[in-house]
Amino acid sequence: MNLDDMMFKPGLMKGERILITGGGTGLGKVMAEGCLMLGAEVYICGRRGGVLEETAGELRAAHGGKITPMPCDIRVPEAIHDMMDHIWADGGALTGLINNAAGNFISRTEDLSPRAFDAIANIVFRGSFFVTLDAGKRWIAEGKKASVISILTTWVWSGGPFTVPSAMSKAGLNVMTQSLAVEWGAKGIRFNAIAPGPFPTEGAWARLSPGQSSETSQTVNSIPINRVGHMPELANLAVYLLHPMSEYVNGQTIAIDGGAWNAGGGSFGSLANWTDEQWTEARALIQGANAQDRAKRTV
Ligand code: HXC
Ligand code: NAP
Repeated sequence: MNLDDMMFKPGLMKGERILITGGGTGLGKVMAEGCLMLGAEVYICGRRGGVLEETAGELRAAHGGKITPMPCDIRVPEAIHDMMDHIWADGGALTGLINNAAGNFISRTEDLSPRAFDAIANIVFRGSFFVTLDAGKRWIAEGKKASVISILTTWVWSGGPFTVPSAMSKAGLNVMTQSLAVEWGAKGIRFNAIAPGPFPTEGAWARLSPGQSSETSQTVNSIPINRVGHMPELANLAVYLLHPMSEYVNGQTIAIDGGAWNAGGGSFGSLANWTDEQWTEARALIQGANAQDRAKRTV
């Protein structure tokens, strides 16, 4: 991206200090780029240290500024606490947090084991809450204002057939957003969420559309504006919600999906006609992608 992709003036985010979980790849990376380009100090966390280093190096080379990789597994509360200690010692309180890290894969629900459910819920539902809680305690103790965004899906309204652990976990974060907007709003800590439609990323496509290209006609036809999301569109919305000038927006979940959810789309309900063979093949492809990523984890 370059500054022409952003609808805001250069320097808009100067003085902002933002942590983006899962900021090394995909949507997290593009939101990190948008914040950095507009002058924020950015921290990105994830389990693959090498991926974070590479992203930070690439974005620093492209835009300058301060972007810091923070290897951290958000399933581990002690690791989150250490990460926050580092960030606070590095320049003071965060002013914003994006709960973006996630795990997901398509599966018939009857094929899931308890470990499969935990693999997703421990990242999305528990991990995002632990990150929010650790930062929240610090903001409250110091009387600091902050903006928290959680990246959800429109399944929080429609349900998510064939992605039930993810849909349940994201729905939990939706309720966290609504609840803490009220509970912590008076302390100056506000909560909003973004529910993206399809924005093709390597991580999502390997696990949700295994073996398919990112813009199949089936995906695009279900979206009223006939296309998938463009990355800068998401970055602009995230910057808006993080910036203090949107302070009056609190407790909202905003879909950015070209109208797909209003048109009754956006979920994997159409997989109901898949055969056993298709599910076996998809599972093998997904587990191959999972294994490749696991091999790169450093925390
Ligand atoms: C059924 C499966 C499975 C599958 C794994 N499992 N894949 N079960 N169908 N396709 C089961 C395994 O058999 C095992 O249970 C358990 O899940 C854990 O498997 P592992 O292979 O050890 O998984 P692990 O690598 O630890 O974790 C899986 C993961 C991981 C959470 C998906 O790959 C991860 O951290 N991914 C992060 C990146 C990611 O997923 N990005 C996509 C986000 S996209 P048993 O009992 O057999 O041991 C997204 C988009 C939403 O959310 C909206 C789009 C519109
Ligand atoms: P992605 O590139 O796979 O992003 C997921 C990120 O989460 C990775 O960087 C991963 O890094 C990190 N992560 C996973 N588990 C973690 C853990 N335990 N601790 C720390 N970090 C962890 O996929 P994406 O498509 O960009 O998805 C980003 C977010 O957007 C997710 O919340 C997803 O549900 C949401 N979303 C995406 C779409 C879409 O179309 N792409 C649509 C709707 C919603 P490591 O593996 O290195 O830890």
